[in-house]
Amino acid sequence: MPILVTGGAGYIGSHTCVELLNAGYEIIVVDNLMNSKQESLSRISEIAGKSFPFYQVDLLNEQELEKVFIENEIDAVIHFAGLKAVGESVRLPLRYYHNNITGTINLLNIMKKYDVNRMVFSSSATVYGMPERVPISEDFPLSALNPYGRTKLMIEEILTDLYKSDHKWSIALLRYFNPIGAHKSGMIGEDPNGIPNNLMPYITQVAVGKLPELSVFGNDYPTADGTGIRDYIHVVDLAKGHLKALEKVSTSNGIESYNLGTGKGYSVLEMVEAFEVATGVSVPYKIVTPRPGDAAICFADASKARKEMEWAAEKSLREMCEDSWRWQSKNPNGYDENLIQTGTGNPHSKSGDFFHVKID
Ligand code: NAD
Ligand code: UFG
Repeated sequence: MPILVTGGAGYIGSHTCVELLNAGYEIIVVDNLMNSKQESLSRISEIAGKSFPFYQVDLLNEQELEKVFIENEIDAVIHFAGLKAVGESVRLPLRYYHNNITGTINLLNIMKKYDVNRMVFSSSATVYGMPERVPISEDFPLSALNPYGRTKLMIEEILTDLYKSDHKWSIALLRYFNPIGAHKSGMIGEDPNGIPNNLMPYITQVAVGKLPELSVFGNDYPTADGTGIRDYIHVVDLAKGHLKALEKVSTSNGIESYNLGTGKGYSVLEMVEAFEVATGVSVPYKIVTPRPGDAAICFADASKARKEMEWAAEKSLREMCEDSWRWQSKNPNGYDENLIQTGTGNPHSKSGDFFHVKID
């Protein structure tokens, strides 16, 4: 029976779809394309050499969502769909609560109605708030620093209450650390709207000449070089974690949380250096004031996932950098075919003089 993937056109969802298809699963994708492009779905199909049904449906539209369950027998749901920009969530909290929480409740109501009880949920290391120590294990206290984080925490709580109410449910809460990288083919990858919020897409856009320089948010943290430390994980390793979680929810009932990270932390400046060494492309940067709400150090204790799901991240930091760069350099404008690059931009220059033309 097929796996329903909500948010399957997005960054992590698209990589997970490829791994599911390669492993022989049938999939159905639901996405409203609010933060993704249909082109990613064609590319998933091309990489895996298989086609699959896609429903352009908003989780907020219960009737349309129910049709997906009427037309298909679904075995389990991997639930990626949600809004994820921290800053935007502070400006537009109601949009985040409505989309992420109401969307999830709609999905759960329909799953209940059609007796689909297995879910793998995209949570986040953000549920640990400002961690007091590292490495972070699943039993650390949970808190939220912003509305986005609160939606993840609330959904974890909703799913926990649901399991308590009915032990038929089987749920994995996957707490991702910092996904970067892209599929080896360079055909799918992260395609942020506008100026990236996250470090790696910012670095690759500086490297390709779309942005002039990286702003490093603070160099006075209690770390060796003063810049923030994170646990970067290759998105393909992360995608494979979802297949392990699917096996877990298919063979046992309950609700469990798992950290998906490498267990290793790298500073911002170490990331810049690793990228330059892996790609040979320089990344100019300047130090600016810290970003409010950023933790100094955050990395996972990922031993629970290793013990209980037999999953561990395998790909090196070098591969993460090489694969991020392959995606960015082959697709300087992401999935947007209507944007072409013109001008005399030199991706190795520090001036960032590419500009873009929209073709009608
Ligand atoms: P993404 O934005 O690339 O993918 C999310 C997808 O969900 C998009 O394709 C979007 O169009 C779709 N979507 C959003 N709301 C929807 C709705 N109401 N109905 C239907 N589709 C909807 O994000 P991503 O990086 O792939 O993240 C996937 C999930 O993982 C998200 O829930 C995110 O919060 C979580 N997560 C991401 C990160 C990260 O750094 N990328 C870290 C931790 C957790
Ligand atoms: N950073 C910069 N300059 C930038 C962007 C980031 O110096 O332009 C620094 C940050 O200060 C931080 C590190 O690079 O030290 C990583 O920042 P990201 O924005 O890439 O990632 P975060 O750890 O801040 O946040 C990410 C997701 C959140 C999620 C969190 C935990 O964006 O949604 O990981 O999973 F909650």
